[in-house]
Amino acid sequence: MSKLVPPHGGGELKALLFPVIERAEELKRAKTLKKVPMTSRETSDVLMFAMGAYTPLDGFMGEADWRRVCVEMETDDGLFWPIPITLSAARELADSIGIEEKVALVDGETDEIMAIMEVTEKYTIDKDFECAHVFTTTDIGHPGVRKVMEQGEVNLGGVVQVLSESEYPVKYKGLYLRCAESRALFAEKGWSRVAAFQTRNPMHRSHEHLAKIAVEVTDGVFIHQVLGKLKAGDIPAETRTKAIQAMIDNYFVPGTVIQAGYPIEMRYGGPREALLHAVIRQNFGCSHLIVGRDHAGVGDYYGPFDAQHIFDTLRPDALVLRPFKIDITFYCQKCMGMATGKTCPHDKKHHVSISGTKQREMLSAGEDIPPEFSRPEVVAILKDYYTTLK
Ligand code: ADX
Repeated sequence: MSKLVPPHGGGELKALLFPVIERAEELKRAKTLKKVPMTSRETSDVLMFAMGAYTPLDGFMGEADWRRVCVEMETDDGLFWPIPITLSAARELADSIGIEEKVALVDGETDEIMAIMEVTEKYTIDKDFECAHVFTTTDIGHPGVRKVMEQGEVNLGGVVQVLSESEYPVKYKGLYLRCAESRALFAEKGWSRVAAFQTRNPMHRSHEHLAKIAVEVTDGVFIHQVLGKLKAGDIPAETRTKAIQAMIDNYFVPGTVIQAGYPIEMRYGGPREALLHAVIRQNFGCSHLIVGRDHAGVGDYYGPFDAQHIFDTLRPDALVLRPFKIDITFYCQKCMGMATGKTCPHDKKHHVSISGTKQREMLSAGEDIPPEFSRPEVVAILKDYYTTLK
């Protein structure tokens, strides 16, 4: 019996990927089907299906699921699910597709055939309604809202079977762990209490402190970063993974953390996205998710602790995973170390507050990053990257 948390929904993991031996034949078949080009967000969702991260979903949502997920954070049959997972198409293309027709889902940027879907529903959504519920704003300045507003007019729902994981398994060899693989790795290490640390940034000292708080009270921490598309100005995955590795090698006890990545494209949905991160991490076998300040937020759309509070509003059986809610972490010059408001009694004037955004701004302005802010081994890697941008 596995000592790890069960996949979301309590059943088996569902990795919607054709077995390798069937792929060539299925690809031949897919080439004869009508093509539906996907946005980068939709392509990333297909990859998430493939690795089992969206267990127990079996494809893109139909209208009843979409609506209920928007409003009640449940699918139509009552499964807890915080953000709609949908596929859009231009009206003309949608009109040309029949119900029960199989289509080829292609990466809209590379034209690669990624998956086959049997279309069982076509429906038009109210985008303002979706954004108001999911993002709590319809402001087009919000990057998640903008993507919804820009997507096709009609949604297609149906069961998905994935043919390709594109370049990810090779490009991110060793980092690209599917849900079954992270679970096997945790089991091999004898871990059952595992905290996930979600990030899209190279780790600065606040991140390091959050992870170390979790290391103290778990079997290990799964440093799990975004390998999908980010917003302009974010540091690319290649640089970030090197920077994170430098931090792990120099500042963590060997064997206490695992660095990995997953192909999600951030929606910057703050509280709702924190819940999606929780569902996903439960599927990866994590019992906890670190939720710090403004988790998955952007700009000032969400309060700093909204993503923590939303966990208190869930029905008790929504998730098995539990959040590790951690206060804002900072460097205190009087404590001469990292702390939070719970552990540091000193005045704010002694605090160096640390954020990924501020670090990026300082790096692009060519400013030095003090050691209170980021470890020198990490800064060296980031500086190299910023020099290549000049
Ligand atoms: S994101 O995916 O949540 O956008 P980011 O890399 O910015 O990624 O943050 C990773 C995690 O660290 C999130 O849980 C976030 O809440 C937390 N975090 C980042 N900076 C701080 C900080 N200074 N204090 C507390 N938590 C923080």
